[in-house]
Amino acid sequence: MLAQLEEIKTKAIEELEGLENLKQLEGWRISYLGKKSLLTKILRELGTLTIEQRRSVGAEANEVKRLLESRLAQKETALEEANLTIYLEQGQVDVTLPGYPLPLGHLHPTTHTLREICGIFSSMGFQVVEGPEIESDYYNFEALNIPNDHPARDMWATLWIDFHTESGELPMLLRTHTSPMQIRVMEKMRPPVRVVVPGKTYRYEATDATHESMFYQLEGLAVDKGITFADLKGTLFEFARRLFGEKRRTRFRCDYFPFVEPGVEMAVDCLVCEGAGCRLCGNTGWIEILGGGMVHPEVLRRVDYDPDIFTGFAFGLGVERIPMLKFGIDDIRLFYGNDLRFLKQF
Ligand code: FA5
Repeated sequence: MLAQLEEIKTKAIEELEGLENLKQLEGWRISYLGKKSLLTKILRELGTLTIEQRRSVGAEANEVKRLLESRLAQKETALEEANLTIYLEQGQVDVTLPGYPLPLGHLHPTTHTLREICGIFSSMGFQVVEGPEIESDYYNFEALNIPNDHPARDMWATLWIDFHTESGELPMLLRTHTSPMQIRVMEKMRPPVRVVVPGKTYRYEATDATHESMFYQLEGLAVDKGITFADLKGTLFEFARRLFGEKRRTRFRCDYFPFVEPGVEMAVDCLVCEGAGCRLCGNTGWIEILGGGMVHPEVLRRVDYDPDIFTGFAFGLGVERIPMLKFGIDDIRLFYGNDLRFLKQF
């Protein structure tokens, strides 16, 4: 057997030298290292030998196998390199051709919108800050003038966190709006305050063309001496003019939020139907984009701001409604449906 192994080794190496292409090399591999090769047969039969024979034949057979495998790898590399040189010399490979393009992702339409909106408010002197999505009852409601038994809590269908205090209360929730950040910001800063707060908000409500259960809001807050309702109106009208252009009409109407007085809602005329009425605007011709108003004196008192000295305005904008208006998107559910046919258009 040892003589056989020696013969296999010499013959295989001799043959390998003369091979000219990868096809021949594969034939060589099958003959000398394949399942039906003599070498494999010897290795398989080791169990039938005496211990003495097994030791010497086994060691030699494995050595031959390792040698042939390493020679095979070397020859493969050499042949591949030689092939490439031939192709290059014959001009069969055009190295100047561009490679295959890799699919690249891009920003989500909501991110584009948030950047644009924050850019406009930054240029008006507002600072951008962010806050927690899991909030306490205190910041989401209580500090905003909405005590536990206040019917206005029903305005925000709330997703509560399944965590009870010893007295059985649920103190944590997914924030229903970005307004809790009004309190957090005022607790940390003294006037003048000018901030905008972009972020996700959550509501336990049925979805439709203009309502999602997770959507983005952008809160705005300005507090200083002598801020009036005219500042709120001027700021928001200028924002709408820069974002939508001169042509879009905007409308202020009375609204109620316990943490502002007076309260307003602002709407923009529907781009899809130009105000005539359609599915997107619920046949009203207008789409509400934000709620706002003058910060309630009770809210200012809670953060130790004297309402006789300081006044302020606040607003909360529905972010997805902006690209819906700008691009005529008639269903908010498209934003988070992960359909690339929609997302690739932005
Ligand atoms: C609020 O959430 C108040 N926090 C706004 C506010 C801030 C008032 C500061 C006063 C002072 P409202 O629930 O109306 O208000 O929501 C504000 C905006 O969020 C709406 O105008 C709308 O554009 C958007 N919005 C509300 N609910 C949804 C929803 N389910 N899906 C998508 N957008 C929504």
